[in-house]
Amino acid sequence: MSKKVYIETQGCQMNEYDSSRMADLLGDSHGMVRTFNPEEADVLLMNTCSIREKAQEKVFSGLGRWRKLKAKRPELIIGVGGCVASQEGDSIRKRAPYVDMIFGPQTLHRLPQMLEQRKTNKIAVVDVSFPDIEKFDFLPEPKVEGHKAYISIMEGCSKYCSFCVVPYTRGEEVSRPFDDVIAEIAHLASQGVREVTLLGQNVNGYRGPHHDGSICSFAELLKHVADIDGIGRIRYTTSHPLEFGDDLIAAYTDIPKLASHVHLPVQSGSDVVLAAMKRNHTAADYLARIHKLKAARPDILISSDFIIGFPNESDDDFMATMNLIAEVDYDHSFSFIFSKRPGTPAAELTDSIDEETKKQRLLILKERIKQNTLRKTSDMIGTTQRVLVEKVSDREAGYVVGSAENTRLVFFPADASLVGRFADVVISAVANVNAVRGNQVVWVEPAV
Ligand code: SAM
Ligand code: F3S
Repeated sequence: MSKKVYIETQGCQMNEYDSSRMADLLGDSHGMVRTFNPEEADVLLMNTCSIREKAQEKVFSGLGRWRKLKAKRPELIIGVGGCVASQEGDSIRKRAPYVDMIFGPQTLHRLPQMLEQRKTNKIAVVDVSFPDIEKFDFLPEPKVEGHKAYISIMEGCSKYCSFCVVPYTRGEEVSRPFDDVIAEIAHLASQGVREVTLLGQNVNGYRGPHHDGSICSFAELLKHVADIDGIGRIRYTTSHPLEFGDDLIAAYTDIPKLASHVHLPVQSGSDVVLAAMKRNHTAADYLARIHKLKAARPDILISSDFIIGFPNESDDDFMATMNLIAEVDYDHSFSFIFSKRPGTPAAELTDSIDEETKKQRLLILKERIKQNTLRKTSDMIGTTQRVLVEKVSDREAGYVVGSAENTRLVFFPADASLVGRFADVVISAVANVNAVRGNQVVWVEPAV
């Protein structure tokens, strides 16, 4: 019987991508199949996130649960990967000596060898080095289920925002070669993928080498992805405002397959805070980009990340953020209170703002953006939306469910023959707000 691997993924979509590649890798090397039940697994892998303190705390509580499984089955192998592994290395074993393998985001391709080493030598294996972009040369072709897929096109980040651990845990920016990215997407499309999300911590900083040594920009890459047979919709995340140049804005005029929904994090609307965060742009610079983007694609919806309570954020700074939110009219946000990350410059700053004030500000901001989300969903009523049909609905007989360009789920009456295809539907009602996967649900009644 095939051995089983259970992978717990914490954090960002890049980790989701890495986890599915770990499963592909162990499937190829050891014939392992992925299970979603840790009780029946032979190998347990935790793909960790260290972006905020809370995320990091999850690692040891999760490992504590796995320790009990290992006490019952000593042959169970436990591995820790991702950004916490990269940052902590072998010291993870000081708190959790039962961990067998520790690997970073850039060494996950060595998992099969690490597994063998662990079995042969019976000692823990630690490899959290940064062997450049070697990892992609050793990963098998991705296997997909469904019609949407993520593709990692670059790794790491060289922006060094003062609050962020990513440049230390994932290393500096490295782009995958152009040919490799295109080949991977063509392979996915041949397996039925219709929507791709290009991934990178600073994805629009992509500078992929062509085989002749010339460099492909992110905007050029988008054109080539749009030309791949079968690909009908393109998304990407996460982009940085500094690299959101005119060529990328022009892509929104030239490439209809680019989804009218972009995640462009600003973090704060205050120039004082932006400078302290080392974002290297002002709120006005950001707004100028947004206005150009809206001119190129008038129906575009924009989302952002915000950090509330950056050290010494004043009432005026917070008001500046709220004013920017009003001006941009965001559709959605991922917003968190600043978390001190060891080793980052911002962790050294003293702070005069109390926790209660920060919590209040976060609530105000979230409520404001939630109102926008609701309004923008209601505004869809009566409009025609292009929906990628993902599956037959298990909630309503005779219905299918798919996603609109703005990420809302859409239900409408149709049969399974539409799965994997795009359909233009008129939206008749909005229902079950926030009920499914955090997205709002949009409903198309049979009569329409
Ligand atoms: N490339 C993106 C950009 O242009 O900002 C950022 C990607 S970062 C991995 C994801 C998000 O995590 C950031 O946008 C930020 O809001 C959040 N984040 C990072 N460090 C944080 C910290 N120390 N405290 C709170 N949130 C943090
Ligand atoms: Fe982090 Fe700033 Fe890069 S938020 S991932 S250092 S753009």
